Amino acid sequence: CFSPDLLPLYDLRGQVAVIVDILRASSTIVTALGEGVTHVFPVASLEECTAYGQQHGCLTAAERDGLPAAGFDLGNSPFGFLEASRPVRGRALTISTTNGTAALRRSLAAEAVVVGAFLNLAAVADFARQQGRDVLVVCAGWKGQFCLEDTVFGGALAERLAADFDVSSSDATLAALHLWQQGKTNLPAYLLQSAHVRRLNSLEASQDFEFCMRVDAYAGVLPLWQDDRLVDAAL
Ligand code: MLT
Repeated sequence: CFSPDLLPLYDLRGQVAVIVDILRASSTIVTALGEGVTHVFPVASLEECTAYGQQHGCLTAAERDGLPAAGFDLGNSPFGFLEASRPVRGRALTISTTNGTAALRRSLAAEAVVVGAFLNLAAVADFARQQGRDVLVVCAGWKGQFCLEDTVFGGALAERLAADFDVSSSDATLAALHLWQQGKTNLPAYLLQSAHVRRLNSLEASQDFEFCMRVDAYAGVLPLWQDDRLVDAAL
């Protein structure tokens, strides 16, 4: 699914929904859980993020248009969870971003909702393989528009699952697979052409892009949506 706006065309019931926003919400959520954050509560609005943080005493993170939103503990950079000056281990987090958290919340009709990134590709593939269900990769995109990096992730996942699933069953999967095969030998170089990478570079956040390209940096981390929160389902 190239954009959450296309979700009404899909029947999520009984499926595994893999929510991907490589730059940067899904990469940030995987990093947060990989660095010891206990639970992640994705919310749609900044007001909800503020209220949830006050009500639960948890860390708050918010981003709009690629920039940290004012008045929150963190923005939407994975590096925010790697700073020794701000210990995050053992803390819960509520987060609201431009695209990724909205895509997640719009996918809750699925049988299972997991958060995917290049950072935890193997964990997502292992989970999908074990479920024996159809898998729908929901690309967060940018404000409803296609994002190259999210679809390339879908192709990378399709390649990992090619022995277990019929990846030729949809043109979208085939297109994603071909894009991945085009770029996989040098992923950062291939994705430099992405609109959002150029946007992040103009915001002086290019180091985020390089970090989000680290395939399987968090091999054992699988953010799985359960009840009303994301939990780290270590495999
Ligand atoms: C998001 O993660 O929702 C957005 O793609 C924006 C960003 O973090 O740059």
